[in-house]
Amino acid sequence: MKTYIITGGNSGLGFETARRIAKTDSHIILACRNVAKGQAAAETIKQESGNQNIDVRKLDLASLRSVREFANSLEGISIDALDNNAGISGQHTGITEDGFDVVFQSNYLGHFLLTLLLLPQMTEQARILNVSSDMHNSPFVDLEWRDLDSIIYPTDDTMGLRYYYSKLFNLYFTYELDRQLQAQGKEILVNAFNPGFMADTNLAGGHITPERIEHVKQTMPDRYSELPLSADAVADILTQKDFATISGQYFDRSTQTVQSSKLSYHADHAKELWEASLKLVGEV
Ligand SMILES: NC(=O)c1ccc[n+]([C@@H]2O[C@H](COP(=O)([O-])OP(=O)(O)OC[C@H]3O[C@@H](n4cnc5c(N)ncnc54)[C@H](OP(=O)(O)O)[C@@H]3O)[C@@H](O)[C@H]2O)c1
Repeated sequence: MKTYIITGGNSGLGFETARRIAKTDSHIILACRNVAKGQAAAETIKQESGNQNIDVRKLDLASLRSVREFANSLEGISIDALDNNAGISGQHTGITEDGFDVVFQSNYLGHFLLTLLLLPQMTEQARILNVSSDMHNSPFVDLEWRDLDSIIYPTDDTMGLRYYYSKLFNLYFTYELDRQLQAQGKEILVNAFNPGFMADTNLAGGHITPERIEHVKQTMPDRYSELPLSADAVADILTQKDFATISGQYFDRSTQTVQSSKLSYHADHAKELWEASLKLVGEV
């Protein structure tokens, strides 16, 4: 039986991914900031799949203390896959208890620390998937590399940049971790996934009108997706043999890999972000 950890597994893409993986011989840990919501999701999955190995554990990515407590709670468990799925939209503002922008920490820094803490417990060919977004390459603004402090401690958020950068950082993390694992001769796989625009999740707080959905479908078909399609793809990437050797890639709304933005392939930026992130989280 394989053990899968899904952050934000109680809702949207994470929940749909868990439902699908539950049909395989699996132990799934839903890592949720709201344990009651996680338990309700786990019950639904158990009843539907008959798989009773669905656990819920508390994880608040916006708290480095919570990330460490969650990782400690997994001591002794071998991990076959980590789905870094949880995220919040750029509509959220505020500074976390650790002093960072809430979008930066929830979408990126929390997962950075979580992954590094769990690496020693991962099986030889474990799979890590970082859920990014095509908004790392926003059609509304040309992202540029910039001073990290201005993202971590923003003074304003024109154009929703905090979300776009957090999703670009998911890619830098994916590519840099892949390089490091390969240099260490490890076979752990790490990839990124773009689920595309999915109307049926809670990311936008249920505020997506049918008109908006139709508009995106017509004007940006290359960014549009549907929740079941993206969830099928994530579940396959994490479970199927076909993906047992693919690493350092960006999957686009499917099991097909594509190139991410030119900016996302700057290895020097990825390295700078990695070094800065290590300092921000303290000792790993
Ligand atoms: N929907 C889209 O169109 C779209 C497009 C591109 C990328 N994505 C990405 O897809 C991923 C899944 O999003 P979704 O659309 O499925 O949205 P969703 O339904 O809102 O699910 C997000 C999940 O993340 C959890 N979460 C948020 N902050 C957290 C924290 N601090 N600690 C732990 N868990 C936290 C949420 O918990 P609660 O239930 O407690 O809020 C929820 O379970 C995200 O990374 C998102 O950026 C979505």
